[in-house]
Amino acid sequence: MNSLTYDQLQRPLRDLRISVTDRCNFRCTYCMPAEIFDQDYAFMSRDQLLTFEEIERLASIFANLGVKKIRLTGGEPLMRRDLPVLIKKLMAIDGIEDIGLTTNGVYLVKYSAALKAAGLQRVNVSLDAMDDELFKKINGRGVSTKAVLDGIDAALKAGLAVKVNMVVKKGMNDQEIIPMVSYFKEKGIILRFIEFMDVGSTNGWNFEQVVSKKEIYEKIHAVYPLEPVDPNYFGEVAKLYRYKGTNTEVGFITSVSESFCSSCTRARISAEGKLYTCLFATKGFDLKTLVRSEATDEEISKTVTEIWNNRKDRYSDERTEETAKNRERIEMSYIGG
Ligand code: GTP
Ligand code: 5AD
Ligand code: SF4
Ligand code: SF4
Repeated sequence: MNSLTYDQLQRPLRDLRISVTDRCNFRCTYCMPAEIFDQDYAFMSRDQLLTFEEIERLASIFANLGVKKIRLTGGEPLMRRDLPVLIKKLMAIDGIEDIGLTTNGVYLVKYSAALKAAGLQRVNVSLDAMDDELFKKINGRGVSTKAVLDGIDAALKAGLAVKVNMVVKKGMNDQEIIPMVSYFKEKGIILRFIEFMDVGSTNGWNFEQVVSKKEIYEKIHAVYPLEPVDPNYFGEVAKLYRYKGTNTEVGFITSVSESFCSSCTRARISAEGKLYTCLFATKGFDLKTLVRSEATDEEISKTVTEIWNNRKDRYSDERTEETAKNRERIEMSYIGG
């Protein structure tokens, strides 16, 4: 029980990111642009989604293989009905120590208390600008920053730990870096800057649009001096700093400028039950068909073990302008980030 499962690069299987829906109430221009996702985009139907019972079964199989941490993602995971029911089931699994949720925050006003009561510990909330007009444009649905900031306050009030994620894209929101830092530093909330990544084919990604960690760091350091902080745990995605003279941290997720594949312990399950061993993988393994067959837990476990044992993914380590241009891509809203 709970032995570790290693891949070809000696990385243990430790984290599981589960997408519970491919739908979202936002249409962020860099993720689900309205011109494409409001046209004839084929979202998954209800029977295509894994049920809560199927997710629970898979999660306990993964826990037996060494997974300790689960993160629920989407699309927007709070668009899946009764999510607290799922959280309660997952919390009860032996070996699962930590459950997080990645959300755009709008539904936190409504659901924070129920999420906390179900056992959720943490939420990572995405917010890309403080400026209301700009944020309305970026999210593609005209939602004000206030809706997200109220969501963050509701989460804190309910006793959830909160981190904020900001994707920085050149020409879109680089001018918002300092306003975001000022607001969240004052509130003592960790803000993490995410380099714009080449996930999906609908956002027209190219290298010129990436604002590197170095550029963001320098901007912040000039106003609020920073000092490095040790990672909180092995394989932490963000590189962390602290505003000097405070206990408040700020992080950088440097998938483009300083990849972190050598410590990547994450498996991903899409909402329709495909297993991916990398955010940039183009093919997943259809766990749903297996779960809906006569296969026993042992058989499913054996299949997952084989897939993880064969894993060699290190996409970000190997990324070049050429590889980023010429390849198939799956959408962030499909794989769950
Ligand atoms: P914590 O458990 O709070 O550290 O969460 P997290 O940072 O692992 O999860 P979150 O959903 O907040 O992810 C923030 C950003 O990091 C998203 O843009 C993810 O796509 C990105 N990210 C997370 N894991 C990976 C990874 O393995 N590879 C790459 N390239 N990006 C990742
Ligand atoms: N590059 C970087 N981050 C992205 N996200 C969505 N698309 C991209 C992209 N192309 C972010 C969301 C959210 C997190 C789960 O992923 O804003 O914070
Ligand atoms: Fe929705 Fe998050 Fe994608 Fe924005 S980035 S469209 S909030 S899934
Ligand atoms: Fe892990 Fe793939 Fe991201 Fe590298 S690119 S850190 S292997 S998910």
